[in-house]
Amino acid sequence: MSSILPPSSRVWWNQPLDRVEGTWIALALIWCLAMFFMMPYWHIFGKQNLSNEAYRVTAEAYSKKTQEMVDKFTVRTETDQQIPVVRPPAGSDVYLIARLWQWWPILELEKGQAYRLHLSSMDYMHSFSLQPENLNIQVVPGYEGVYSVTPTRAGKYSVVCNEFCGIGHHAMVSNLYVVEKGQGGTGDESADDQGEDKDERGEK
Ligand code: CUA
Repeated sequence: MSSILPPSSRVWWNQPLDRVEGTWIALALIWCLAMFFMMPYWHIFGKQNLSNEAYRVTAEAYSKKTQEMVDKFTVRTETDQQIPVVRPPAGSDVYLIARLWQWWPILELEKGQAYRLHLSSMDYMHSFSLQPENLNIQVVPGYEGVYSVTPTRAGKYSVVCNEFCGIGHHAMVSNLYVVEKGQGGTGDESADDQGEDKDERGEK
């Protein structure tokens, strides 16, 4: 019998199951269940499948919150586009905008501190991919995803867009800095000034 021809008996679905067929169905079912329980397992023990919250948000409201953070905590600008590098206080809410074709602003976080990372898109679907950690988060317009993150390793990370979002998709790249406590800030030229700023704010 082939699928081109009609089945030889019209009522074909109540024929007894072949043993091989039954075995494969059982195997597939067992594997499905294994994968189903691996999802919570990975969440708890594999540190994958992030815990997140998500809220409805408009692009205007989200960009306003981001702008407020940028106005308060920008320490320098980077790249030809003068993208602000923002150093929000340890433990605070940090906002990142995804839009055609840019991540905005650049975040500078402190190692060992917990942050609430907010992600939203101003236009279409993007995806936040943090490399080389290989942390991947879908960024959806109209929703604000909130992720609890604690950077564990200092360094300069790459942020790339992982969702094809048009002609400039390949250019939608950025950085994220994780610095040791008391480091980072305004950059090399004015590192001394930064030290004084920090003293004034009572940081070590
Ligand atoms: Cu944004 Cu690809």
